[in-house]
Amino acid sequence: MSKTILITGATDGIGLETAKTLVGQGHHLLIHGRSEKKLTDTIAQLANVNEEGNVQAYKADLSDMAQVQSLCTSISEEHEKLDAIINNAGVFNVPNAETQYGLDLRFVVNLLAPYIITNKLISLLPADGRVVNLSSAAQAAVNLDALAGHVGLDSNQAYAQSKLALTMWSFHLAKSLQDTGPSIIAVNPASFLGSKMVKEAYGVEGKDLQVGADILVRAATSSEFDNANGRYYDNDNGQFLPPHPDALNPEKNQRLVDAIEDILSRILN
Ligand SMILES: NC(=O)c1ccc[n+]([C@@H]2O[C@H](COP(=O)([O-])OP(=O)(O)OC[C@H]3O[C@@H](n4cnc5c(N)ncnc54)[C@H](OP(=O)(O)O)[C@@H]3O)[C@@H](O)[C@H]2O)c1
Repeated sequence: MSKTILITGATDGIGLETAKTLVGQGHHLLIHGRSEKKLTDTIAQLANVNEEGNVQAYKADLSDMAQVQSLCTSISEEHEKLDAIINNAGVFNVPNAETQYGLDLRFVVNLLAPYIITNKLISLLPADGRVVNLSSAAQAAVNLDALAGHVGLDSNQAYAQSKLALTMWSFHLAKSLQDTGPSIIAVNPASFLGSKMVKEAYGVEGKDLQVGADILVRAATSSEFDNANGRYYDNDNGQFLPPHPDALNPEKNQRLVDAIEDILSRILN
């Protein structure tokens, strides 16, 4: 059965491959990108996969919270129901990591944007809907002062902390929704998949992106993930595994969510 699925960062890498697979399976896709040109190219590529594909494009720079909010407004005005959100867009190495409000771009794009998107759109998801959050094998304990922009981090730390933060918030949200759904699932899509992120960061070709796309498609649509709320799927090992211990610590998760809410109350209108 066709599902309506929002995928962020669908114009390159794992997101693009995931979009191709989903449109090939006949799903209705809301593809997000930050570049008009890349969105146009992506629509053409998806039409090559399925010329009858149902695809709508949404543009927003996820480092700009005003654009993140407008993205959510446009989607909720145009859609009464989404079956899944795949929070795929992410960033690792950048020339200048400092954003407006002095926040690190990795925390903004990899954590705050999916946090806002999910919270604003969750009411469109049914009880059996899914939110798939892109985690990583690279995870490091979150420094809340760094999250708030008071301490600078190198790229490896900023990325790894943003990915553990995303995983911790996923577990926190999943716990709060356990009786009502939708399912919140953190997924490491596998390491060193050959995207531009991996090529630029590590100077390696990387592995087949389809490995990552396949697990995101399964997490968003397959009955194998019916009972995956509040679980961590590690595609390096091809199985659900316990997450980083911090994600199993409700007090730490709560402190993280309080810190996120503090930042958002400062920067959102
Ligand atoms: N590749 C791996 O081995 C690996 C491993 C673990 C986790 N991941 C995660 O998988 C996800 C996809 O990464 P990838 O490897 O496919 O990298 P990628 O090819 O660089 O794709 C990242 C996507 O995010 C989008 N994006 C980045 N910054 C953005 C911003 N400010 N606003 C809007 N969109 C933005 C990019 O848009 P553009 O198309 O405009 O550049 C692109 O579509 C990320 O969350 C990453 O952390 C990847």
